[in-house]
Amino acid sequence: MKSLPLLALLPLAAGCVYVLSSPAPSAQAAATGPAPAAQAAQQPGTRPAPQETWSRDVAPLLYAHCTTCHHPGGGGPFSLLTYADARRWAPQILIVTQSRFMPPWLPESGYGDFADVRRLSADEQSLLKRWINAGTPAGDLKAAPPPPRYDSTWQLGPPDLVLTIQRPFTLPPGGTDVFRNLIFPNPLKAIRYVRAMEIRPTPAWVVHHANVLVDRTASLRAAHPADWQDGVPGMELLMDAGNRFDPDSHFLFWKPDTPALVEPEGMPWRLDPGNDLVLNIHLKPTGKAETVTAQIGLYFTPDPPGHQPMLLQLDRDDLLDIPPGDANFVVENQITLPIDVDVLGVYPHAHYLGRDLEGWATLPNGEKKWLVWIKDWDINRQSVYRYREPLRLPAGTVLNMKFTYDNSAANPHNPTSPPVRVTAGNRSTDEMSHLWLQVLPANTPPNSPDPRLQLEEAWMRNRLSKSPNDHVTLYNLAAALAGQGRFGEAIGVYQEELKLDPGNARTLTALGASLEGDGQPDQAKQQYTRALAAGSGEGNSSPAACDARFDLGRLEVRTASFEDGEKELRAALAACPEDAETRSMLGAALLGAGREDEAVKEFNRALALDPADFTALYNLGAMASDHNDAAQAQTLLEQALRARPNSTDAHLKLAMVLARQNRLPDALAHLRTAASLTPDDPQVHSLLSQVLDAQGQSEEAFSEQKRALELDANDADGWNNLGAMLARGGQTAAARSAFERALKIKPDHAQAKANLARLSSTN
Ligand code: HEC
Repeated sequence: MKSLPLLALLPLAAGCVYVLSSPAPSAQAAATGPAPAAQAAQQPGTRPAPQETWSRDVAPLLYAHCTTCHHPGGGGPFSLLTYADARRWAPQILIVTQSRFMPPWLPESGYGDFADVRRLSADEQSLLKRWINAGTPAGDLKAAPPPPRYDSTWQLGPPDLVLTIQRPFTLPPGGTDVFRNLIFPNPLKAIRYVRAMEIRPTPAWVVHHANVLVDRTASLRAAHPADWQDGVPGMELLMDAGNRFDPDSHFLFWKPDTPALVEPEGMPWRLDPGNDLVLNIHLKPTGKAETVTAQIGLYFTPDPPGHQPMLLQLDRDDLLDIPPGDANFVVENQITLPIDVDVLGVYPHAHYLGRDLEGWATLPNGEKKWLVWIKDWDINRQSVYRYREPLRLPAGTVLNMKFTYDNSAANPHNPTSPPVRVTAGNRSTDEMSHLWLQVLPANTPPNSPDPRLQLEEAWMRNRLSKSPNDHVTLYNLAAALAGQGRFGEAIGVYQEELKLDPGNARTLTALGASLEGDGQPDQAKQQYTRALAAGSGEGNSSPAACDARFDLGRLEVRTASFEDGEKELRAALAACPEDAETRSMLGAALLGAGREDEAVKEFNRALALDPADFTALYNLGAMASDHNDAAQAQTLLEQALRARPNSTDAHLKLAMVLARQNRLPDALAHLRTAASLTPDDPQVHSLLSQVLDAQGQSEEAFSEQKRALELDANDADGWNNLGAMLARGGQTAAARSAFERALKIKPDHAQAKANLARLSSTN
């Protein structure tokens, strides 16, 4: 069902425009002490180690830790690839490595166990120190390892799809840093899953860092129809996430030395036809005008994600109001985890005044686990940090952030002199307080709704406690409730949102869907119709209008008004032709009207757009089953269940296909799942009873049939089956009254008649 789960916006690292800052590494380095002694220190009593040389010892170290940035065209200001380079920079290398200014790495060691830690060990530090103090001996240059190559080929080989910006962007020679949002439409005709991505801006050295955002409804392009090819300046990026509950789930963050982003096994992210990628790029003027272009290389996998992580954000932007001169301004925020999660990564974010950034978890037993601690924040060195091993946190854990800001003149990063009052916002002179976590739900009970909905609910309640009238938050909270099947609560929250924003087409549509879920189809229809009227101002092909029509069409199909349904769905398709779900729902309308061949065509067109479209797979599977093609039916229904593991209908249909092939244990497994999903469905219990009976589990079969009849006392077949079981058990009187009950409901029930006759003749 399309319109139930939904979410909007919340970009990663919601934007910032930074002024050019000139952190003073040399000043910092100068504080590290006097020039080193000319002699290498030797431990008393140990044999002097052989003298380190560049060829044997230093080159491998620099290649491993430095040259990813320090190569021609890289993010570092000079190359360190050759012996001559290393010798030339030796005095500075000594200072910056002893002070740990290089390689850049902000997290305190021991507070979060991260992968790819860019930190020299004490041994590596002292190796460099001994080599430099010994006068930078070269060693046998011919025996040196070959330098790594940083060429212009794609790191992972030719991508499956390369997107290129339409028009190069000209970066002015000077002035403040520039933030630009470069828009990449995609030419896809079917849904793809991205397992890896490489971002290639040219020239790389003008780019400080970049984020890739997925614009699910191409909203940024739509908002700038005339000149989107030039990119959109600034950072007011409130991006529409569309109608699926498809929260941001991956850190798509890039810095000059970042390798291609490869997602963990089984965790690709999804890219649909019609989605845009937006490269939110931070550029540094270089003194001359630069022509900037960018490419994004995408690598696909055919497999949809097996695990779905989610990005969660703690923040306290609402409290950021930092007086000038205040060197110790603190904000804190907490979210309590409603479910068990594995934390995969963390991305702390503040601007220039941030000094001390702490993130930690307080477990239900009181234990404190550090997520990250940065004691000397520097926006220019911001990064995403991934944990070496996922960090398991049980439900009830409190996530904490505590950020400390320094708005005094003593803060070397302070962009304003003298300091001024600073509040939250997107400009460089504003502040932010974000701690993003990538979390993966763990220990999810089988057959439960997407566990991320509970995280979303907790997060939105946290946001609402800070800003009670925030539209997006209210809308997302309602959607999270609806997605968990809590329609009554969702309706209340949607109505609250509508009070603030009456006539919002999308909220009306979503309210309609919750009313429908709550069993109020007439009310639902009213809201869909209102949404259509409200949305017509934005044009027929606006996402809101297409959704309202889709929902209206689907409601007609569900209530068996197939012709009306067909009409709405065709109108929705005329406006939004590439929507797989609208296609397959049209197929369902046609099937309902008995137009099988046309229906099959639409189902296949839906599957061409999205091979995992549930409605198409389910209906084609059901048709195959009707045509006694058990093998085909089984394949399709199994695929349908992969797309929607919690569909009772699909479990039932597949159980019947399996039962007909006498694969009773398999059928039973699906029926038991169906019963756990919808415990009050009489059909499930009655089928369960039949399969149990066929397996000889009479006692359980009997109680399941009784349960079915409690739920629906008007089922003639059910009474007849109950009678048969009673008769076999020798309970003649009870059997007789069961058969009579069946006949009362359906006087011409042939089997009940025959059974009754047989009962009379044997007694
Ligand atoms: C992530 C990229 C990156 C890595 C890795 C890196 N550097 Fe740098 N390095 C820079 C940048 C960028 C600068 C310019 C100053 C700044 O912006 O922090 C710099 C500056 C320097 C400087 C000049 C400092 C000054 O006094 O101005 C030296 C020396 C240096 N790096 C040495 C190293 C060494 C040695 C390593 C490896 C142990 C290394 N760097 C690893 C990016 C990097």
